[in-house]
Amino acid sequence: MLKDMTMGFFRPFELERFFARHEFSARYLLCSSDCESFPIRELLAMDPDAIDRLLDLRLGYTETRGAPSLRMAIADLYAGLGVNGVFVHSGAEEAILNLCMAMLAAGDRVVVNAPCYQSLSEIPRALGCDVQPWPLRQLSDGTRWFLDPAELPALSKGKAKLIVLNMPHNPTGALMLRDEFEAVVDYARRTGALLLVDEVYRRLERDPARRLPSVCEAYENGVALDVLSKHSGMAGLRIGWLVSQRQDVLDQVAVVKDYNSICASGPSEVLAEIAVRNLDRIVGRNRSIVTRNLTLLDRFFLSQPDFATWTPPEGGSIAFPRLTDGSDAERLAERLVAESGVLLLPGKYYGYDPAHFRIGFGRANMPEALEQLDEWLRLRKPRQ
Ligand SMILES: Cc1ncc(COP(=O)(O)O)c(C=O)c1O
Repeated sequence: MLKDMTMGFFRPFELERFFARHEFSARYLLCSSDCESFPIRELLAMDPDAIDRLLDLRLGYTETRGAPSLRMAIADLYAGLGVNGVFVHSGAEEAILNLCMAMLAAGDRVVVNAPCYQSLSEIPRALGCDVQPWPLRQLSDGTRWFLDPAELPALSKGKAKLIVLNMPHNPTGALMLRDEFEAVVDYARRTGALLLVDEVYRRLERDPARRLPSVCEAYENGVALDVLSKHSGMAGLRIGWLVSQRQDVLDQVAVVKDYNSICASGPSEVLAEIAVRNLDRIVGRNRSIVTRNLTLLDRFFLSQPDFATWTPPEGGSIAFPRLTDGSDAERLAERLVAESGVLLLPGKYYGYDPAHFRIGFGRANMPEALEQLDEWLRLRKPRQ
């Protein structure tokens, strides 16, 4: 059985397999990528007509590209984008699959930032593309992760069909500077590449002044991806979207979607529309949680230099510290979860230096989880 699975089209999604083992049994999820979730009751309270709309909704199919009123609400989030530029999906994950299947063929060159959320590189690889990893690097003083746009020409050789960026970045929390982002757009424009920016952590910048424009606003061949899972804490709705000025690209995506989910869930679309129309308020609440948690994390890592080195994230709800002794974080993570119920995600699940691990700070109970980790570390290594 396992043999058949590993021989399939895709390689197993390592991170998902790790979460499948622990997500619903570990007491403290200290590596979740999403922010604090919302009860439906709170969401319904944001719109006086919501309950009636939900109760009167007929449970038939919905439109393939999403309910028009939801698409309109999403279009309003982007400067200069009309409703035809919006394509709703069942989560960001479906959107990545549909876009890649729509636009890529075997032999196409694809440049993808690395490490990355596995789908962004694995789906092109499975389609037979020539995938070129574009490595994030750390400044020598360890203060910042960055992607160097000057490396793009050697990776693309002018022929990349698709360049894939995820900003703010999973798992490092890196966020390009505005001029670095513009250099990528410039290069894509000069070579005619499609630029997919996975923006699922956008709106969670540590310094809001550093928020990048959406690629659908900045580049005529740009496709932006967003979802309510991360900044809005509504992963259970499974509502995400692609936005782009390229109608022909969205038309191609529609062809694939007919073979996939066909349409999103109607009740989810109603709830998603309320969320999108109240996005500032919802994300504002999660930004406060993230800001408070980051202050605690900065202090924690300062007090635990023997444990891990900390490159403060510039955006998003996750970061990627490295164990100071360079050992495999999986050994530590397995012991930690067994002994204290705290879950960290080992870096090897990104196919990266296994001494790194992912830590998440979007959840309201992060201070408690961090206290458990702190106590476990102190008991494990008593002060001399
Ligand atoms: C960068 C990135 N893109 C896409 C996704 C998929 O999002 P969803 O689970 O909402 O489909 C994730 C989820 O962790 C992610 O981190």
